[in-house]
Amino acid sequence: MTMEWPFVDYQFPSLPPEGPRLAIVGEAPGAEEVRQGIPFAGRSGQLLNESLKQVGIERARCLVANVFRRQPPGNKVGHFFASRTRARKEGRGIEERWGAFGTSDWPLAEFAGDIGHLQATLREYGPSVVVALGRTPTWALTGQNGILQLRGTVLPCRMVEGGEVVPTFHPSYLLRGQLVELPAFHADLRLAVERLGR
Ligand code: URA
Repeated sequence: MTMEWPFVDYQFPSLPPEGPRLAIVGEAPGAEEVRQGIPFAGRSGQLLNESLKQVGIERARCLVANVFRRQPPGNKVGHFFASRTRARKEGRGIEERWGAFGTSDWPLAEFAGDIGHLQATLREYGPSVVVALGRTPTWALTGQNGILQLRGTVLPCRMVEGGEVVPTFHPSYLLRGQLVELPAFHADLRLAVERLGR
């Protein structure tokens, strides 16, 4: 059933990355991403692209990925997680090795393969810095929860030996009446550039 949800794979760089590599990771594709077959192709993607340009990041030299490669109903990432109680009630498995998402949710076993796939891809790609767009990739990449406290910091990446994660807002959060945070979003992207250049 869930495997019928539309699938969008990562976008690998179309230009050769120069120097230390940067990866950008979001949550899951939306409708426009499904239509075009690439991550961050819709409104969030437009804001992301404009912001990357503003801070001097060439998207074409980055890996652009999502934690989950399927579009969940209503674009709600909550569909990928469940509490132990709910999972048991629904007869579904949870994957414990990535830890809890938020206070009591766990990735459902049927989707956890995507998290492992992200890890394998990042290990192969070898980014020095990964920008985590929102709470889902911040959790997947660092094991930590709480985007409002974590954004604008630099955290160790649990998926890539020696890699760093710069958590920031998800562009769709900014588009939902939080454009006042746009300068902070740009500052976080500049921080990622700074860490790349270290
Ligand atoms: N939001 C995401 O998290 N990823 C996309 O690819 C598009 C929107």
